This record gives sequence, structure tokens and C-alpha cells, in this order.
Amino acid sequence: MRSPDWVFLDMPGCGRSISLKHRACPWRNAYLFDNVLRGLLHNPRKMLQPYVTPGMTVLDVGCGMGFFSIGMARLVGSDGLVIAVDLQQEMLDVVEKRAARAGVADRIRTHRCTDDNLGVTTKVDFALAFWMVHEVPDRAGLFRQLGSLLRTDGHLVIAEPKIHVSADDFRETLELAKAQGWTWSEDPRMRASRSAVLRVAAPAAAECRRIYGSGH
Ligand SMILES: C[S@@+](CC[C@H](N)C(=O)[O-])C[C@H]1O[C@@H](n2cnc3c(N)ncnc32)[C@H](O)[C@@H]1O
Repeated sequence: MRSPDWVFLDMPGCGRSISLKHRACPWRNAYLFDNVLRGLLHNPRKMLQPYVTPGMTVLDVGCGMGFFSIGMARLVGSDGLVIAVDLQQEMLDVVEKRAARAGVADRIRTHRCTDDNLGVTTKVDFALAFWMVHEVPDRAGLFRQLGSLLRTDGHLVIAEPKIHVSADDFRETLELAKAQGWTWSEDPRMRASRSAVLRVAAPAAAECRRIYGSGH
């Protein structure tokens, strides 16, 4: 069953807020889930070390306040790079502050994108889209752009919040990705999430690069 286009969230001490599909999470709301307790739910090292190794260049699309950008910066090490992309400058400002505090600012590059254009051309070994795909109006366009950026054999991990995204909605997202040349293999089992690991077939990647330009 498809989930409704809106949900109410009751957060203790924070009142009641409405969250809409295909609307970017307002930056202040990100503190509701990206706070000191998040580490109890998600461990970036354990979740992503099967895909992210030292020296890699990786993309965190819809990075929010950078919970996973910082986790991946630790995994790629001093020779690697994390490109942290978000629509909202306020999110990116927090990423930069947190990265400096965590001592990994030298390996995180922030980039502000628009709703329908990531505006990134650097090729990446791995991409993460965590709890963000349901906020994107043109999901097919997002998958095409990611296909143009990922190196051959690179993985894309998508995770969607169960609270917003039903099993049917998630299946529909995977079908949309499939239509853009992606295949999916595993369900990496991430808490409170529906998740999948995807790879893009070489001919589809070439077509995506033709549309969006090649990386450098
Ligand atoms: C729910 S937050 C998740 C943030 C982060 N991935 C995390 O797990 O903490 C979703 C983020 O995606 C961003 N976003 C929404 N639509 C986007 C788009 N079309 N391109 C890039 N970022 C987008 C929002 O601004 C927001 O920061």
C-alpha cells in the first residue's frame, strides 16, 4: 500500500510537525533525528565499511547535517574525499562545523545543489542517498545523474525512512531506478529504513554521462 503524501510526527518535547513527501526536510527539523542519540540507531562505520574503503572519493547526496559525511570521511581516510551535497545551505554550514570539530574538514567538500541538478562532475567510487530520495520530485532524474557520476563497479546505497516510505513506495523507487539502468542486489538491513545496494549497468552509465556530461 502506498503511504500518504504527508505524515504527522509526534516528537516528545517538540510538539507535532507535519512532514511532506517530495519536500525537503526543513533544516531545523533535522535535529529531531540527527542529534546525540542518533549513534544508537546508526553506526556509519559498521553500515558502510563493506562499500567505502581508504582513498575512495564518495558522494553523500542529501547529506543533511553530515552524520554520514563525517562517518565516511573517517572511512576514506586522509587520502580520500567526501563530496557532501545538499539543497540547503544551512545544512552544509552545519556539516562544515561538525567536520571541523571531528578533525576531518580537509577531506569533506560541501556543495549546494538545486532541486533537479546535483551540479557535481567529479566521478565517485561510491554514493549514498540516505533518507532523501522520497524528498526528490524527479527521482528518475536523480538516478540518471548518479549513474553519470559513479565509476564502473561503484555502488549506490539508498535507504528510506520506514516512517515515510511504505514497502510499495520503496519498490516503486527501485523500479524507477531499474528503468534508468540500475540493478539492485542486497538489502543491507539498516535500522528504521528500507534499503538497497544498487549498481548501474555500463551502457546506462554511458548514456547518463552523455546527458549530464562526464566527470573529471
Ligand atoms: C531527511 S534529511 C536526511 C539527511 C541525511 N542524509 C541524514 O541521513 O542525516 C534529507 C536531506 O535531503 C536534502 N534534499 C532534499 N531534496 C534534495 C535534492 N533534490 N537534492 C539534494 N538534496 C536534497 C534535504 O535538504 C535534507 O537535508
